[in-house]
Amino acid sequence: MKKNFLIPNCLALAPLAGVTTLPVREFFSEHGAALTHTEMISCAGLVRDNQKTFDMLKISEREAPLVVQLFAPDEKILVAGALRVCEACEKFFAFGINMACPMPKITKNFCGAALLKRPDVAANMVRELKKLNLPVWVKIRKFENDNDTLKFIENLANAGADNICVHGRTPAQRYEGLADKNILKLAAENFPDLISASGDVKTVEDINEYFSYGCVCVMLARGAIANPFLFEEYRGINRDLDKRVEILINFAYRAKELAGEHKALIAMKRFAGAVLKFSHGSAEKRNLACMSTSLDEIIKILNSPAI
Ligand SMILES: Cc1cc2nc3c(=O)[nH]c(=O)nc-3n(C[C@H](O)[C@H](O)[C@H](O)COP(=O)(O)O)c2cc1C
Repeated sequence: MKKNFLIPNCLALAPLAGVTTLPVREFFSEHGAALTHTEMISCAGLVRDNQKTFDMLKISEREAPLVVQLFAPDEKILVAGALRVCEACEKFFAFGINMACPMPKITKNFCGAALLKRPDVAANMVRELKKLNLPVWVKIRKFENDNDTLKFIENLANAGADNICVHGRTPAQRYEGLADKNILKLAAENFPDLISASGDVKTVEDINEYFSYGCVCVMLARGAIANPFLFEEYRGINRDLDKRVEILINFAYRAKELAGEHKALIAMKRFAGAVLKFSHGSAEKRNLACMSTSLDEIIKILNSPAI
């Protein structure tokens, strides 16, 4: 086990732009996640003193260990941004570097998955960030060819990366098609104690499969949005619908306290649909929840008997 990897068989919440906000991370921390990620945060934004970017660094005392995921085109901007992170908050568990995002608005600025084509820059980013004395976690996409994926991982490992998360889809696939679980098996066999898994983690069986390959960490992404109680199910906790609704309503109040009504409503709409799908006669309730314009309205729908 790598010395700064503190959580064996770590079940984590993946970085999700627009989703892994403070209240959502706190929710998952309190319901089974051993570790969470911020949304990806722009180092250029931090360097420019952009207030919205700084707001993304806020954390709560009730959160699990947290990886602050950064994106930048090179080591200079990365380290400048990371230094701003250190000034703003000392409580992060690790730095994350996004080398996975395939969206054109990110890759056209040489960030995210664009770094997969620049292995020397990618290695320098890890090497320079390590100098700030926090573990460095990198998230990448798989290449078309398995050997290219393994070569890129080796390059990052030699530069000192403490953890490398492989999402088993190529950048060209974006979020479509099945994730390739075989490349995770291959990577975990070749790089023991270093590899985290991402891609199509929707059930307890998916989680167990990735751990059985030797992945040190499994990251829940869309699976956690579709089923906010998947972390707990993995830990053998099965809540009935009434309890899930009660937890969700408490979350609504807490999310409003932490992030305001608007962000709380967005998070509630995501989770309410997922929870209501288990309730009898739920389709209409789900539609109503989706169209809610206030927290009070969505809470009333959650509390109402089956239609
Ligand atoms: C809405 C959304 C936002 C995402 N944002 C990020 C991000 O900020 N950083 C990152 O590394 N990956 C991001 N991802 C990728 C996920 O972390 C994960 O690797 C991907 O969804 C594959 O897992 P899944 O098939 O289980 O959803 C995002 C994915 C989605 C769906």
